[in-house]
Amino acid sequence: MCGIVGFTGSQDAGPLLLEGLKRLEYRGYDSAGIAVQSGGVIRAAKASGHLRNLCEQTHDGADLPGVCGIGHTRWATHGAPTVTNAHPHLSDDGVFAVVHNGIIENYAELREELQGRGFVFHSETDTEVVVHLLDCYYKGDLKAAVMKTVSRLNGSYALGVVCADHPGELIAVKSASPLILGVGVGESFFASDVTALVGHTRNVIYLEDGEFASLTPDRITVFDCAGREINKTISRVVWDVEAAEKGGYEHFMLKEIMEQPRALKAAIEPRIKDGRIVLDGVELTAEQLRNIRRVVITACGSAYHAGCVGRYIMEELCRIPVEAEVASELRYRNPLIGQDTLVIVISQSGETADTIAALKECKARGARTLAIVNVVGSTVAKLADDVLYTWAGPEIAVATTKGYTTQVAVLSLLSVYMARKLERIGEERFGELVKGICSLPERCQRAIDLNTHVGYLAKRYHNNSSLFFIGRNLDYAACLEASLKLKEISYIHSEAYAAGELKHGTIALIDEGRLVVALCCYEALFDKLVSNIKEVKARGAKVLAVAQEGNRHIFAEADDVLFAPAIDPLLVPITEIVPLQLFAYYVAKENGCDIDKPKNLAKSVTVE
Ligand code: AGP
Repeated sequence: MCGIVGFTGSQDAGPLLLEGLKRLEYRGYDSAGIAVQSGGVIRAAKASGHLRNLCEQTHDGADLPGVCGIGHTRWATHGAPTVTNAHPHLSDDGVFAVVHNGIIENYAELREELQGRGFVFHSETDTEVVVHLLDCYYKGDLKAAVMKTVSRLNGSYALGVVCADHPGELIAVKSASPLILGVGVGESFFASDVTALVGHTRNVIYLEDGEFASLTPDRITVFDCAGREINKTISRVVWDVEAAEKGGYEHFMLKEIMEQPRALKAAIEPRIKDGRIVLDGVELTAEQLRNIRRVVITACGSAYHAGCVGRYIMEELCRIPVEAEVASELRYRNPLIGQDTLVIVISQSGETADTIAALKECKARGARTLAIVNVVGSTVAKLADDVLYTWAGPEIAVATTKGYTTQVAVLSLLSVYMARKLERIGEERFGELVKGICSLPERCQRAIDLNTHVGYLAKRYHNNSSLFFIGRNLDYAACLEASLKLKEISYIHSEAYAAGELKHGTIALIDEGRLVVALCCYEALFDKLVSNIKEVKARGAKVLAVAQEGNRHIFAEADDVLFAPAIDPLLVPITEIVPLQLFAYYVAKENGCDIDKPKNLAKSVTVE
């Protein structure tokens, strides 16, 4: 997600702003910029790509004289990662510069209103409306202009503002996006998180939603939403810089597991309007859908596993044949794909070589292609006919977690949308499913809260040399991802197996003490799973079951139990994977593995 920084004091602001942006790089970005105010003039510099491009362009900030300024790393949401779309955005008269983290949800109507007032827009961003609103309302009173501007905004925003008429003063505004103030000696700071501050001061003020602040070198004044000055506690940061980047978590993977409720909210909420599903301008008419004979979902790794879950959901709801196939196979097997095929391509990074190649192959055969991607403006996103972003925010850990669950959530939305368009489900079932999807953020948090004992179970089972994940239907699809999570961060061999298939040979491997993780959340087949648990226990296996909260029967069958919160059966894989992500994490931690950067692995496999 975007990062913002601000500095005012007696040192050159340019280098300090760039240093602060470096501290925020881990948040992920695709362009950056700074603006420095000096002598009644605001000078700005922006660059796309790596932050070093901006550093080189500005000679490490030396080209922008001044002791007061703002900076930004942009994680593109509205508009591609170009220099024009990069922040800071300046007013045409050069009086204001603004940086923003968040999404202005009513930007389109504000843009139209401002254009009607003669303001000229240069970028595709939502943020640009803020700088023109400030310009529109500013009559010399900066605080009044800020309050009037903020009163027009809907959505989430952490704003940093510098005004040419107010030398040495910064404005910081918080609503829903993080924003922290740094209290220095003869200098003041703001930043999206403490990472960018701890190198200068450990004394910080956490702004609350609706509050805004005026920062000068010697004073920080905080106001409530009504403009009344309020007293704020100065907190002492005890984290080191490394810890701060992870928000206090020991590893990015754990941070990103815990971020899943928020990521799911970002993936789902903008697509539910008045109980209907809206797909970001993706137009799939009933007629177009009726002409689709088959859906092929293709991806790699965990994205493929998300596709396997999506295959069950989509085929169950839409009653269209749906297949999921790894991209590295699809691209080379001369597939029967044509204009009657909808190809769904899934990729967190949008840069996976096999996935890109499969996408190109399918396009060349005339298929309509729809991408489900996290990185805005990535190759897969640009190549596909349509794209649905997962809005999970940057994912740093190599092992995906929030990237996967948001992919499945978007696939669920798409499946329900398609099924309703095809009239394969009625309003009642549609409403149930929409309600279930909307509950996913809270259900995901419940899945975290239900399994505080997972670390203890990881200590008990971390020494296994090889284990099995078994399940049926959607539980089996979830097993695929659970197995990969464990393998890729703990280096313990595991295998996902269709529970009903075990007896056809593989059960020969079940011996005394072998750990079998049995996913039993798809309750229509619970009794079948109990039979499979009995089969493996009869051969000496230890069974760790994953069952729905409230299922009391499982205690009589399994040695240990992890829980998934109750949810619509078709959405089970999104919640039941959470305790298994945590299980893999704690097993790997117990084994002293490099959790965020596992051996031999890359976050994006951009080669064949
Ligand atoms: C998942 O934990 C792995 N990092 C890997 O399987 C990954 O899902 C796969 O390489 C696909 O990456 P993508 O989603 O960026 O295309």
